[in-house]
Order: sequence, then structure tokens, then C-alpha cells
Amino acid sequence: MMSGKIDLHSNQQVNTQSSCLNEWENKVILGDCLEVLQKIPDCSINLIVTSPPYADSRRSTYGGISPDNYVDWFLPIANELKRVLKDDGTFILNIKEKVVSCERHTYVIELILALKKQGWLWTEEYIWHKKNCAPGKWSNRFRDAWERCLQFNKQKKFKMNQDAVMVPTGEWAKTRLNKLGDNDKIRFDSQVGSGFGKNIANWVGRKMAYPSNVIHLSTECGNKKHSAAFPKSLPIWFIKLFSDEEDVVLDPFLGSGTTCVAACELNRNYIGIEVNAEYHQLALVNIDAVRNIYIQKSLL
Ligand SMILES: C[S@@+](CC[C@H](N)C(=O)[O-])C[C@H]1O[C@@H](n2cnc3c(N)ncnc32)[C@H](O)[C@@H]1O
Repeated sequence: MMSGKIDLHSNQQVNTQSSCLNEWENKVILGDCLEVLQKIPDCSINLIVTSPPYADSRRSTYGGISPDNYVDWFLPIANELKRVLKDDGTFILNIKEKVVSCERHTYVIELILALKKQGWLWTEEYIWHKKNCAPGKWSNRFRDAWERCLQFNKQKKFKMNQDAVMVPTGEWAKTRLNKLGDNDKIRFDSQVGSGFGKNIANWVGRKMAYPSNVIHLSTECGNKKHSAAFPKSLPIWFIKLFSDEEDVVLDPFLGSGTTCVAACELNRNYIGIEVNAEYHQLALVNIDAVRNIYIQKSLL
């Protein structure tokens, strides 16, 4: 993307009859993703990161789908996502079930099962822990401080750059690795019988370790002019992990443009789809702002 393909005026217009991906790259398309996706070529996208409407949670701001109809609504879209995703690509679905009549609705669980039936592999579930979640009091539950980021793949072998998201080894290493027992120096099976084995000594002297599947990030605090924008750090984490520079990242429920902004900053190509004209315009403005910064930097 950053190697000469930038056209600041090309965001809106795309020849939807075309099957050439180049025409789609670095575009934000105004439309219903089910219709738009049908025009995108097969096996052309490296990574999908998206946060669809969580059933009718935000009906007042951008509409919603009844929880009871959620799976039926999402499946045709998922079918298109599967078609456009490359075989070694990944689909990250940020979602959380709402509370209906005092209990968690099961539409996310039903969706996972339906996506498996559709042929997706449910490879992993990352938990986005919202570090800055505001305190509150509810009669039958505590505050909701996490959301699911479900990982789906088309095949078992997919692109994964684990080193790109390593984290500092942390304080535990200073005490734990200073006093190694005999069992720490061999691959030692867990004494609780969990079947897990580890060789702790492998981590001596290392400053960085692989993260867990719990991602600790703050929610978006600034006014993004969108009621459900996720923080840029969320797509950044997945884009680093599941794509390379110049790859194509798709968000079919783009909202304020966060995924495309993140892709742009990380030197990936992007395609965004948004059905609401106001949010589409907002996304264009947000993406142009980072692209302008990049162009200015490259002119220095
Ligand atoms: C949860 S928000 C996404 C927020 C986004 N991640 C951000 O950071 O701004 C979901 C978005 O999907 C859009 N949307 C809903 N149905 C759609 C459809 N069928 N096609 C495209 N966009 C849709 C909504 O207008 C809304 O902006």
C-alpha cells in the first residue's frame, strides 16, 4: 500500500463489477456488506477483523438485529467472508452476548456452532480485558469487563507472526527464574495431571515472552463520534499477529474506520465496508488523516 498505491481521492469509487482486487484495495465502501462482499474476488483477503452490531444493543444509534435472528442474519455474511478469505487467512470476530431478561442470550454460542457447521475452524477465543472498565452496581452480576475476540480459520495452518506480539517477560521471571529446581531444567509434566509440560529453564535470560490469549487493553475513551468504536490497539494487535506488511485487511462493519486506520499505520492494505453514510464519511476522514501523516513523513 505504501509503495506508491496511495490515491487520496479514491476512497469511495470502486467498480463493483470488477474482479480485480487492486481496484478494491485501500477503499472504504458505502453499502451493505452482504451485497458488497459478493463483488470481492475469491481468496483475496489475508485478514478480517471486525466488530458487527452486537444484536440490538445499540438500536438507537445504528440499528440492530434481534438476538433470536442473529445467526440467520450473520451466516450469509460469514459465507461471503469465507469465500473472500485466503486459505491461510484469519477471521477475528469481536462480539459479546447481551443480557436478555436477566440472563446472557446464547446467540454467540449458537453462532460459533453455526459457523463451524459452515466449515470454519474455531481456532481460538481471545479475551479482550477492558482494563479501564467503569465501576457499577447491578443486582445480579458484576461489571462487564471483557469481550470475546473469536478466531476462525479455513484450515489448520494459517499465517501467524507470534514474535510480533511478544511482551516483556515481566516481574515473575526475576524471582521464578532465579531459583531453578531440577524439574525446571527438563520438560516437566504438570503435577496436577493437566497433561501440560514445560521447561522453565528455556526462559532464563530472555527479556520477552509470548503473551497469553487474554489481551489487556483500555476501551476507547475519547469521543470517536461512534458509539461502539473499539480502541485502535485491538485491531493493531491482531493485524501484527495475523498479517504481513502489504497484506490486505478487511473490516465489513467498519464504523468509524478504526481497523483501516490501524492497517494503514502498519503498512497493510485495507478494505472497509460501512452501511451508514455518516459513519462512512467519518471513516474516510479518520483514514485520510493517517494517510496524510504517512505521506508527509515520506516526503521528509
Ligand atoms: C460495532 S460497530 C463497528 C465499530 C468499529 N469497530 C469502530 O471502531 O468504529 C458496527 C458497525 O457496523 C455497521 N453495519 C451494520 N450493519 C451493516 C451492514 N449490513 N453492512 C455494513 N455495515 C453495517 C454499523 O453502522 C456500525 O457502524
